[in-house]
Amino acid sequence: MDVDPITRGNRFCERFGGQFPVMLAPMAGACPPALSIAIMKAGGWGAAGCLMMQPEQIAAWADEVRSAAGSAFQLNVWIPETAPRPEPDREAEWRHFLSRWCDTPAPDPLPSPLPDFAAQCEAMLAGRPAAISSIMGVFPAEFVAKLKAAGIPWMASVTTVAEAKEAAQAGADVIVAQGMEAGGHRGTFDQSAAEATQVGLSSLLPSIVDAVDVPVVATGGIADGRGIAAAFMLGASAVQIGTGFLRCTESAIPSSWKDAIGRALPEETILTRAFTGRAGRAIDTAFARTAARPDAPQPAAYPWQRLLTQPMTAAARDDDDIDRMQAWSGQSGGLAGEGPAGDLVENLWQAAREHLSAARSRR
Ligand SMILES: Cc1cc2nc3c(=O)[nH]c(=O)nc-3n(C[C@H](O)[C@H](O)[C@H](O)COP(=O)(O)O)c2cc1C
Repeated sequence: MDVDPITRGNRFCERFGGQFPVMLAPMAGACPPALSIAIMKAGGWGAAGCLMMQPEQIAAWADEVRSAAGSAFQLNVWIPETAPRPEPDREAEWRHFLSRWCDTPAPDPLPSPLPDFAAQCEAMLAGRPAAISSIMGVFPAEFVAKLKAAGIPWMASVTTVAEAKEAAQAGADVIVAQGMEAGGHRGTFDQSAAEATQVGLSSLLPSIVDAVDVPVVATGGIADGRGIAAAFMLGASAVQIGTGFLRCTESAIPSSWKDAIGRALPEETILTRAFTGRAGRAIDTAFARTAARPDAPQPAAYPWQRLLTQPMTAAARDDDDIDRMQAWSGQSGGLAGEGPAGDLVENLWQAAREHLSAARSRR
């Protein structure tokens, strides 16, 4: 028989690290060292989304966080797929569409897309994190072997039961079940299925817990003690929170994005490919809504769409202009707390424990 939820969380920490099982979710471009340091000092887990980071930036992030707060952090990367060739007609349509939103056009030709994946993987290994995590697929077998040899657990983010089984089969030590409520990109292995396979966390999580033999971390729409307790009741061994930490003092996102998260009702986010070419959940800003209209061009493939919108999204950050900002948010943004992240994470776990203890004493 399964242990009670709090014991399950304690066992997760004994095996993988941290003092309690609440983790900052990896968020490319939104995980400054200070945010992880604050959460780790309080007893939770830190994280870096390394997608856009060069190897030396990954090393510097890991060094800074470890020297300040230890090693209970994960380093995360997207599994790459062969980039499709840019489509000139689509690109021309988008250059025209975007000219109404930003005076600076994307460079022509579009620049070389992304840092080298193999070099990022080596830098993550050298960073000696408590775990390395993947999204949008599984690591190649050679890298899984290196992880095992280094004794670094692999946490695989998935969005369906079939993906969970595939990742466990490929050697994942932990499955991260990402519900469709999640902010940012969906971790779907087959990106063309990202819209069609949307499953909410309350269905996804227990089904994955039943389907695999490894611990399961819950993520997507969790932002307060009730959500954490509910995830544990559904079989989670830990939770990952992304949007719920973005309004904290140590989060470096622009203030208009923080404010928009705090105001957003669950129905005021949108799943959109308009920023990057891949499906991600964002605040339904003016740009995201306009790009969803039937007369807007179809998004180009990833990473070309990201490169096309990059001047606009960079200008939006500089100007703190939410209308044009790539403002990722999950469906529970309105529950996100403010203030120092260390206080928030402690309070979240305390509230969750109270809910779980109350449930236990009623049994
Ligand atoms: C700004 C932002 C960036 C994200 N970047 C990544 C990423 O690089 N890698 C990843 O695995 N997940 C990424 N995610 C998804 C989170 O790891 C997590 O699944 C999600 O935040 C959970 O939902 P929540 O935002 O409702 O807490 C990102 C999410 C946000 C909000």
